[in-house]
Amino acid sequence: MRDTPPKRVAIVGPGALGCLLATALCRIFPGEIWVLDHDSQRAALLQHSGLTLERAGRLEHFPIQATADAQRIGPVDLVLLCVKSPALPPTLPSLLPLLTENTLLLAWQNGIGHLPVLLGAELPGALALAVTSLGAHLLGPGRVRFGGAGATSLGFLGEAPPEARLALQGVAELFRMAGLEVLVEADILAQVWNKLLVNVGINALTAMYHCENGALLENGEALGLLRAAVLEAASVAQAKGIAIAPDPVARTIAVCRATASNISSMLQDVRGNRQTEIEAINGAVLEEAIRLGIAAPVNAELFAAVKALEKGYLPG
Ligand code: PAF
Repeated sequence: MRDTPPKRVAIVGPGALGCLLATALCRIFPGEIWVLDHDSQRAALLQHSGLTLERAGRLEHFPIQATADAQRIGPVDLVLLCVKSPALPPTLPSLLPLLTENTLLLAWQNGIGHLPVLLGAELPGALALAVTSLGAHLLGPGRVRFGGAGATSLGFLGEAPPEARLALQGVAELFRMAGLEVLVEADILAQVWNKLLVNVGINALTAMYHCENGALLENGEALGLLRAAVLEAASVAQAKGIAIAPDPVARTIAVCRATASNISSMLQDVRGNRQTEIEAINGAVLEEAIRLGIAAPVNAELFAAVKALEKGYLPG
């Protein structure tokens, strides 16, 4: 593994975040970034038309290499795994042609549902997690709107060999060169839970009320549910001994304010008739709460409400 910024990079999943990260890295390695997409028609479209970034009303265009066939890409230094949690089980085996012992796989999923799936996958190379509050909104295939700057934390879940740690520093450097605010964290699990608590309080409620993040603060009923859901999840984190940051309700409210006009990723999924990350967010908190004997009725309510929304459009 290398401690200099990685050169061969593949981004898996051209959703909002995947496209945003791809455009950032295209500035450093123009024309060299690969996108792997399970959808071969969309991959062909991205290969032909590239990516478009909309930021502060300006449009910028980036040529990209895109394919649905990981063999065409071959081994890379860095994989940014940007598919949503529910897509991980079918995606992970398709990554094998990209991975060697020297590859760093960086996983960007929301929630905690992805952790057992990733840890159980036994893939070659090193696995690290990324937790970000960057905002991104997918406008169409390969067309992304920048939704606001935000810090990104990177880290390993457990022990990692020294060369993998150096490689992660190189990746942090790469993102800094691309203009992102990045920190390498010793306790990434605490960051995962800090972000989870924010998603627990915002995502399902914006999907249920069909509203932008900021509108939750103007709706007394939604705000009450936000507080209760976050506090339940914080009790679960405390029972698990996770060192979450103080006052998660205030932090969630601050994120609602900072991203007031954002359409949350879950509401984007519901509007696009896609499977949401409810299992990995409120569902995963509920599962842990049940295991630990902690009451989590509001997370149960939010989980059931979003599952009911999904039932309205998902097959079976
Ligand atoms: O999932 C999301 O949409 C984002 O994590 C957040 C922070 C809720 C902002 O929209």
